[in-house]
Amino acid sequence: MARASESIHGIWATRLTFILAATGSAVGLGNIWKFPYIAGENGGGAFVLVYLACIALVGVPIMMAEVMLGRRGRQSPINAMRDLAAEAGAHRLWGLLGWVGAVAGFLILSYYSVIAGWALEYIFLMGNGTFTGAEGDLAGATFKDMTGDPGQLVFWHTVFIFMTMFVVARGVNRGLEAAVRILMPALFILLFILVGYALSTGHFAAGLEFLFRFDTEHLSWNSLIIAMGHAFFTLSLGMGAIMMYGAYMPKTASIGATVLTVAALDTLVALVAGMAIFPIVFANGLEPGAGPGLMFVTLPLAFGNMAFGEFFGVLFFVLVTFAAWSSSISLIEPAVAWLVERFGANRMWASIVLGLLVWSLGMGTVFSFNIWSDWTLFGMTFFDTLDFLTANIMLPLGGVAIAVFVGFLMAKETVAEEIGMRSAVLAAAWKFVLRYVSPAAVMIIFFITMYNYFAG
Ligand code: TRP
Repeated sequence: MARASESIHGIWATRLTFILAATGSAVGLGNIWKFPYIAGENGGGAFVLVYLACIALVGVPIMMAEVMLGRRGRQSPINAMRDLAAEAGAHRLWGLLGWVGAVAGFLILSYYSVIAGWALEYIFLMGNGTFTGAEGDLAGATFKDMTGDPGQLVFWHTVFIFMTMFVVARGVNRGLEAAVRILMPALFILLFILVGYALSTGHFAAGLEFLFRFDTEHLSWNSLIIAMGHAFFTLSLGMGAIMMYGAYMPKTASIGATVLTVAALDTLVALVAGMAIFPIVFANGLEPGAGPGLMFVTLPLAFGNMAFGEFFGVLFFVLVTFAAWSSSISLIEPAVAWLVERFGANRMWASIVLGLLVWSLGMGTVFSFNIWSDWTLFGMTFFDTLDFLTANIMLPLGGVAIAVFVGFLMAKETVAEEIGMRSAVLAAAWKFVLRYVSPAAVMIIFFITMYNYFAG
């Protein structure tokens, strides 16, 4: 098979653009909203440690494999996996991996957009002084009012889907690349300002202790799958987003070094977000295990009672929105690219069609906070079910499939050539971890959890 040196959709201008785009995909609601609340619910310290181990032993090796597949395939994951399976002489069913990934991305975006919509609404709520001088339960009541009102949720969900599809419709260079070049530097500047602000408010030590103290009391078997699932979610692994971004990566960039950079930045942002949020939680005598509302209840209350709180509160939710925006585009880009490849559709139409579909599915999440909140499966609402199904089942299994495909089925020479590592020792270590350690870790955690969940 002749190897394309570019995808038909374009290519990142430089190696740095790949880093910006992949970091943009990785750093998102997962880091700022989800990580602090799941760390809170699972007791902090020990959970953080398990999560860091998952990033290092499972996340990084699989991310390298995913980028490699993308750059080798130079197409949407659906077509890339079909061709790469043929090239490797593997069974045609491996091509399904691209499909499962596209569906996972679609499902994730449907709820991701609803949550990102909350952040959008909070920019305005912070700005108009809703929380200024707020006492007691005003913040909790405001959050309940918002999630209880489908109209408000639908409105902001619609705005966010529109923002996402607007960027994707403009294509790789004029859309995705242009967006991350503005959003990512802005995000890092905002984060820097906010950490300085958090430091200036005191209570930093209590937050640090919560994040890094080794407390196994709240760590359950279920915590393990949550930590593992989150490692996949936060690095955007297991559904082809990183594969797609790899397809736009210049041939000359080193996969190992860029992936390490992206994973390190992503981890840093999650920890820093925790360091900014927990001190505030403790300073106000609030509970770290508050769940999805953690960022939307405790923080606004705190901002409302601090000097310049309105201003920094607005900055904070702008930051969250930017982070979510540069991630959401990577959730749908694989499906858009596939429509363009398969039907020669123009990007604009592909984006509109998919945007409408994701938007409709998002209604399930919207309603699970109000009119469908009693409708549960194994104690989970529609939103919880989607979250669990994608993050804790589809992504880890997709990741294992990627590891097995690259580790065992692709020709050794192809893998070595594409990964292009200068050190033979490092290359061998990566291959070993990818073949044995990562899949085993995922599968063991996976089966223990499933057993506990459904049989225990
Ligand atoms: N990583 C992003 C976050 O932490 C979410 C995300 C973007 C994602 N693209 C993805 C998750 C692909 C899984 C797969 O918010």
